[in-house]
Amino acid sequence: MTEQIDIDDISSNPSPNRHFGEVLEANISRRSVLGGTIGVAAVGFFAGAPMAQAATVPATTTTSLAADKHRRPLMGFKSVPVSKDDTVHVPEGYTAEVLIPWGTPIHSGGPAWKKNAANTSRDQAVQVGFNHDGMHFFPFDTRGRMKSRGGKHDNNGAGLLVLNHEYTDPALLTPDGLEGEMTLEKARKHQHAHGVTVMSVRQKRDGSWAHGDSPFNRRIHVNTPVTFSGPAAGDPRLKAKTPPRGTLNNCSMGHTPWGTYVTCEENWNQYFGTTAKDHKATDEEKRYGLPTGGTEYRWEEVDERFDIVKDPNEQYRFGWCVEIDPFDPDSTPVKRTALGRVKHENCYFAESRGRVVSYNGDDQDGEYIYKFVGSSPWRSVRARGKSPLDEGTLYVARFDEDGTGVWLPLVFGQGPLTKANGWKDQADVLVRTRRAADAVGATKMDRPEWITENPKTGHLFCTLTNGKSGPSPANPRKPNPYGHIIRWMETGGDKTGTTFEWDIFVLAGDPTKDPMVNINGDAFGSPDGLWGDPLGRLWIETDVSNSTQNIKEYENLGNNQMLCADPHTREIRRFLTGPRGCEITGVSATPDLRTMFVNIQHPGEETKAWGKPTPANPNAVSSWPEHDKSSRPRSATIVIRRKDGEIIGS
Ligand code: FEO
Ligand code: CA
Ligand code: CA
Repeated sequence: MTEQIDIDDISSNPSPNRHFGEVLEANISRRSVLGGTIGVAAVGFFAGAPMAQAATVPATTTTSLAADKHRRPLMGFKSVPVSKDDTVHVPEGYTAEVLIPWGTPIHSGGPAWKKNAANTSRDQAVQVGFNHDGMHFFPFDTRGRMKSRGGKHDNNGAGLLVLNHEYTDPALLTPDGLEGEMTLEKARKHQHAHGVTVMSVRQKRDGSWAHGDSPFNRRIHVNTPVTFSGPAAGDPRLKAKTPPRGTLNNCSMGHTPWGTYVTCEENWNQYFGTTAKDHKATDEEKRYGLPTGGTEYRWEEVDERFDIVKDPNEQYRFGWCVEIDPFDPDSTPVKRTALGRVKHENCYFAESRGRVVSYNGDDQDGEYIYKFVGSSPWRSVRARGKSPLDEGTLYVARFDEDGTGVWLPLVFGQGPLTKANGWKDQADVLVRTRRAADAVGATKMDRPEWITENPKTGHLFCTLTNGKSGPSPANPRKPNPYGHIIRWMETGGDKTGTTFEWDIFVLAGDPTKDPMVNINGDAFGSPDGLWGDPLGRLWIETDVSNSTQNIKEYENLGNNQMLCADPHTREIRRFLTGPRGCEITGVSATPDLRTMFVNIQHPGEETKAWGKPTPANPNAVSSWPEHDKSSRPRSATIVIRRKDGEIIGS
């Protein structure tokens, strides 16, 4: 929505659990003592790694985290400067082309996008959705065949792009916004602009990319039938008045070792409200931050599913990870309850000891980081006709001040999760995941966003985009408007285990305004999207809030951007800057890393510096990508290539 306050920034976690800031402060003190220095930036324990504040960094090294040893330069491009332009900038020698912007028909002959936003809800259901977010490129097989099974899917010139559409901006989606009378048609258009797009894309002879028809092209949105699976599937709270439908606020994602896509439901709470005047929020509604009255989207006025008084259970059907098989267009998306019900940002899937492991962030201030570990090797589970995501254990992270951490199991009957404490069964633990995590003593974090891995070292990274709910006055970054990236290594590299070592990879922000910022390279704020590529580089995408973007205090950071980091040297280099009002999110590439796909989300959204788009003036902030006064800004995927055809970033 176009409000100035980002709802993720407001904590709805009243538990007494320790905030990450307290733990970080204690960790910094310990490292400082060990290293014999008094430093504010006791981050990263690479002996000899160059960094901005090397003099203040304790020379301590933990065995597992110091294992990141490579010497070959990982980056070969010249960094781009900060920008406030209404366009995309990439390094010299690179091109960026726009592909599948919002409203693109998913089949040839489908309804064309109308630049005055006059497309109907029925049109929107067969057009690319709004606000592109997490994304993955699923290559076709080597011979360009789109078959779903058999053969190696490693085509560098053709495949399926599968991408999320997180939310909608009323001022841009329909000709008259949400002012005046609410109609079901308007609500439906918003609903159909959410969800997921599956689209076939192909490289042309001239090297550029285009979308095209395929039997796999489809849209999944708020009214698409879905099913539930796993331990909570039969919970009575998942039985609402209508059959299960839809996925909402699809933020980031993961892709499984068996070739499916998992979309994550993040701020689903903002769509559930009521027209009733006297509704008192339940404990669960409070814990997940549901409004007590009406919502900004106003769906509850015309669609009873979203009225928490008329249909109190529908809300429990959201907040899940949803598995989609992009190569089976007739398949029904499945909500995998074993991964818990929170505000899922993304899920990073790894394989360890043959088992599937999924790391998940719950993106709200003061929430937690989770891990799901499959109970047996995923191939054998699939051979039995079951899903590896239905059988396993969900854990939540506790970060201890000595630089170690523990994964705490969220298992009915273990620890405090007993009948005596009011827990009914495992389904109850999963439906009330946040409460279960409170009970076991997880560590509150500054808005966990994406999690990824450096495949060269096994180090895991999570972006903590910002935070201000830390209760500790000793928190060195309280408030923490520009976030940091945390890194950890599972003990012995075993991701199925329950202990790890952690440190801080970088404290982001403008070093000229905050002496604690320790970026070795180009300045950025609020890391969000994150991808560890096969060469061991870390791609960082930023989402500095539009409420602060480009106001005086933060003007040195410019528009949101994508950077590349060398995890060993920790050099961070700016690779891309986006147009006004956008965030950069979603990143994937062809197997040969010669084509990269990146999403430009919400160009033209309200900013403090440039104003507020309205139905009468949708281009108040940006008119990217068309730059047509009679049009409006559109989220889009961009395709990045090197003019010499070589590997991106090298
Ligand atoms: Fe949808 Fe937390 O970003
Ligand atoms: Ca995000
Ligand atoms: Ca964000």
